[in-house]
Amino acid sequence: MLASTEEETAEFGAKFAKKLEMGDIVALHGDLGAGKTTLAKAIVSQIAGVSKREVQSPTFTYLNIYDTTLPIYHFDLYRLKNEEAFIQLGFLDYLEEEGICLIEWAERIEPLLPQKTIHVRLSYVEEGKRKIDVYQS
Ligand SMILES: Nc1ncnc2c1ncn2[C@@H]1O[C@H](COP(=O)(O)OP(=O)(O)OP(=O)(O)O)[C@@H](O)[C@H]1O
Ligand SMILES: [Mg+2]
Repeated sequence: MLASTEEETAEFGAKFAKKLEMGDIVALHGDLGAGKTTLAKAIVSQIAGVSKREVQSPTFTYLNIYDTTLPIYHFDLYRLKNEEAFIQLGFLDYLEEEGICLIEWAERIEPLLPQKTIHVRLSYVEEGKRKIDVYQS
C-alpha cells in the first residue's frame, strides 16, 4: 500500500496490529528513516495500550519489552553486528516467547528468522510518502 503521510503509516500499523497473534514475528525492513519505528510505535500503542510518545526505539539496548496481556518484544538491531551477537546476548529465547516480536533491522539476524516470519518493508517514495509491502518468505 501507499502511505501518503506519517499518519497513514500509523493507521496502517494500528490495523495491522489487530491481526497479530501470540507467537508472531514481524521483521521491519527499510533504509534509515524509512518509517520502521513510526510503524512499530503504532503497533505497540495499539496492542499495549500505551501512547506512541512512550514508545522509543531501543537503539542502544537492542530490546524494549512491553509486558502486557500480549507481551511485545521490540528490537532495534541496527547496531548489532550479526546473529552471533544476538545469540550471545541471550535473545534467542524471545523468538519462541508467547508474545509478539517486532524487529527493526531484522536482516542482521536473517539466518535466525523462522519461516513464519511476517516481513514488512517500508520504501521511501518521496518526501512524506512511503510504500509498505507485507510478505512472507
Ligand atoms: N509516510 C510516512 N511514513 C512514515 N514516516 C514518514 C512518512 N513520511 C515522512 N516520514 C518521516 O520519516 C521519518 C521516519 O523515521 P523512523 O524513525 O520511523 O524511521 P526508521 O525506519 O525507524 O529509521 P532508523 O533505521 O533510523 O531507525 C520520521 O521523521 C517521519 O516523520
Ligand atoms: Mg528505527
